[in-house]
Amino acid sequence: GEEKEKKWFVGSIDQGTTSSRFLVFDGEGTPVASHQIEFENIYPESGWHEHDPMELLSSVQECIEKATESFIEKGHSKDQIKAIGITNQRETTVCWDTNTGEPLYNAVVWPDTRTTSIVKELKAKAGADELLEICGLPLSTYPSSVKLLWLLRNVDAIKQAYDEERLSFGTVDSWLIYKLNGGKDANIHITDSTNASRTMFMNLHTMKYDEKLLGFFDLDQSKIKLPKIVPSSDPEAYGKLTSGILSGTKITGCLGDQSAALVGQCGFNPGEAKNTYGTGCFLLYNVGEKPVISKHGLLATVAYDFGAGRKPIYALEGSIAVAGSGVKFLMNNLGFIKHSSKITELAETVKDNGGVVFVTAFSGLFAPYWIDDAKGTLFGITAHTQRGHIARATLEATCYQTKAILDAMEKDSNHKLEGLAVDGGMSNSDLTMQTQADIIGIPVDRPLMRETTALGAAIAAGFAAGIWQDFSELKEINKEDRKIFKPQVDAKKSDQMFKKWEQAVQMCRGWVL
Ligand code: G3P
Repeated sequence: GEEKEKKWFVGSIDQGTTSSRFLVFDGEGTPVASHQIEFENIYPESGWHEHDPMELLSSVQECIEKATESFIEKGHSKDQIKAIGITNQRETTVCWDTNTGEPLYNAVVWPDTRTTSIVKELKAKAGADELLEICGLPLSTYPSSVKLLWLLRNVDAIKQAYDEERLSFGTVDSWLIYKLNGGKDANIHITDSTNASRTMFMNLHTMKYDEKLLGFFDLDQSKIKLPKIVPSSDPEAYGKLTSGILSGTKITGCLGDQSAALVGQCGFNPGEAKNTYGTGCFLLYNVGEKPVISKHGLLATVAYDFGAGRKPIYALEGSIAVAGSGVKFLMNNLGFIKHSSKITELAETVKDNGGVVFVTAFSGLFAPYWIDDAKGTLFGITAHTQRGHIARATLEATCYQTKAILDAMEKDSNHKLEGLAVDGGMSNSDLTMQTQADIIGIPVDRPLMRETTALGAAIAAGFAAGIWQDFSELKEINKEDRKIFKPQVDAKKSDQMFKKWEQAVQMCRGWVL
């Protein structure tokens, strides 16, 4: 009954690319308290992108303290938070010393492209063309594997730890779970299958580390500690918080952030999809119980894996490296706006893009193109060009890539999507969502409660904690007050705009630093 559902709450840690958050949800999926902290993004050289692993941890811990304090101020007691879920930026690679539990280098963040030449070398290596079938990912600068290889080749402390068999590897989920459990003392070194599916070390079909994949990257499993792969929802495996205001509270769920958003949007049926406009933008399309290996530049990935006898569910994914980070670039690097939310106002100062196309290839171009050596390129500048045009072109870049991804998805799945559920920061912009609908020619469907990523992790944790037993109990979550953006421009005009984008994509190839 309602009484019971109201009584328990679930906490959700969301460790993203630019900020960390902690939210507390009630049994109806409504957030009742939250706290968010932005931390430093470090760009030591062009194409490099790092985070301090200790800052990731401390920002998460501070969010837990602050959000829980406000939860208590609202008249609840902290014991009502029954479990905690974790969701995180994926692929980002952390290395630490197994003996001390301390990081050996900064985390190499997912859009980092320092690995471009390693990727070129690997593509020419025997066996390279067999990887996609095993792990679902094309060789690119994006997965953890190439980042780890760079670290092993270039950072003495990491090479030495490997040689001395005290190197621990993990994605951000592993690192946080390890540290929140007390680090080397508890020594809980695990990951969930959605995160593991982004490393390029896991066999997508068996959910286990694969000898062929590890061999391809020259990794000797006796010298490196890889996290144990467990289901995304589990009552025991993830341990518990060992310090702070919620010390003793169990962690019972973990999902990569894009998987979490699919769960938070209740995309539980094959054929359902969501697009999350965060730092990057990621479209996940539920394909059901069997992975579909893409022939058109998409990734095959684990959508979610709730354990307890349930089969893992797979997705086709279209990954776009730059979405919100394009807006941040206009704000921080070019000084166009003072706050990200002002981007729409700036774009609305002009009636269209004025012929400007901005291929925001700051990390090469991801799906479906996979052009590692592309660089961000602005086309169509004239004396007429204003900042508003560039703002529009920046927002449109993500919309065009989403269109290219949907086209690829249609070819891979033989299925045309009838609507696209959206969330994430840039989805707050009505202008951007209308543009998106115009470009893809299908309705864009935006929920009122857009904390879907955090909600997904709370759902994973809530399942293992017995708050929810079946997906059907979640049917009502987040269904009300959705806003639908219907396509308004005619197909001919949007085709023309898209052709121009594709032409620009071809012209941004082959930049040599
Ligand atoms: O694959 C990277 C992705 O997980 C990062 O998500 O929301 O930080 O852009 P976001």
